[in-house]
Amino acid sequence: MSGANRNIERLRRDYSGEELAESNVSPDPFKQFLTWFDEAVNAEISDPHAMVLATASADGRPSARVVLLRGIDGDGLTFYTNYGSRKSLELEANPRAALVFPWHELDRQVRVEGNVSRREDRASDEYFASRPRASQISAWASNQSGFLRSRSELEERFRKFEREFAGRDVPRPENWGGFRLSPESFEFWQGRPSRMHDRILYALLPGGEWKIERLAP
Ligand SMILES: Cc1cc2nc3c(=O)[nH]c(=O)nc-3n(C[C@H](O)[C@H](O)[C@H](O)COP(=O)(O)O)c2cc1C
Repeated sequence: MSGANRNIERLRRDYSGEELAESNVSPDPFKQFLTWFDEAVNAEISDPHAMVLATASADGRPSARVVLLRGIDGDGLTFYTNYGSRKSLELEANPRAALVFPWHELDRQVRVEGNVSRREDRASDEYFASRPRASQISAWASNQSGFLRSRSELEERFRKFEREFAGRDVPRPENWGGFRLSPESFEFWQGRPSRMHDRILYALLPGGEWKIERLAP
């Protein structure tokens, strides 16, 4: 590869975050997550709620993609998708998944791992009803992760569902809804000078308490 921008080996900068220590994190990883999430929102970084979701097929082939965090509570982190998509089929076969929030502008990363399960229909209905109408129609039009002959096939399906639902509310398609990842671990990574980064790991113990440990960078 050539060109100044492609000199990947030389792309390098030092990270300058403040110390993340066992003594200054919250004992509750959900609270710690929300503190960092608020800081990401306040820093006006692009899509602070965008997270990489890694899944794997039953025979262990991994795949990853970005989805949007749409809720967090004591039970876990929620995202919405098509239940027939590749990620959903993998999650049905193997509910173990990992999330990564890559907050580069803050020299931070959060990793979350756990089991994923479908959200109850009522939660999916409520969220679907809050989406813009065009996004609702698009959920009907897109057979997510299926093959299309052309862009116009998708656009024709969009127009078809626009006609079908003209003058009434768009119901939630049965094959569209939420998943919730119930965390068994959280890792908070803070970039520091000289690659001497801080990594704080929370691991869920059988009794429900969180054990906090430091990992080598
Ligand atoms: C910023 C961003 C946000 C996205 N949000 C979602 C989302 O919330 N839900 C979703 O199903 N796909 C979302 N996508 C698209 C997915 O990355 C992916 O293309 C799609 O879900 C199909 O993935 P799959 O074939 O592995 O199931 C988003 C992509 C980007 C870049």
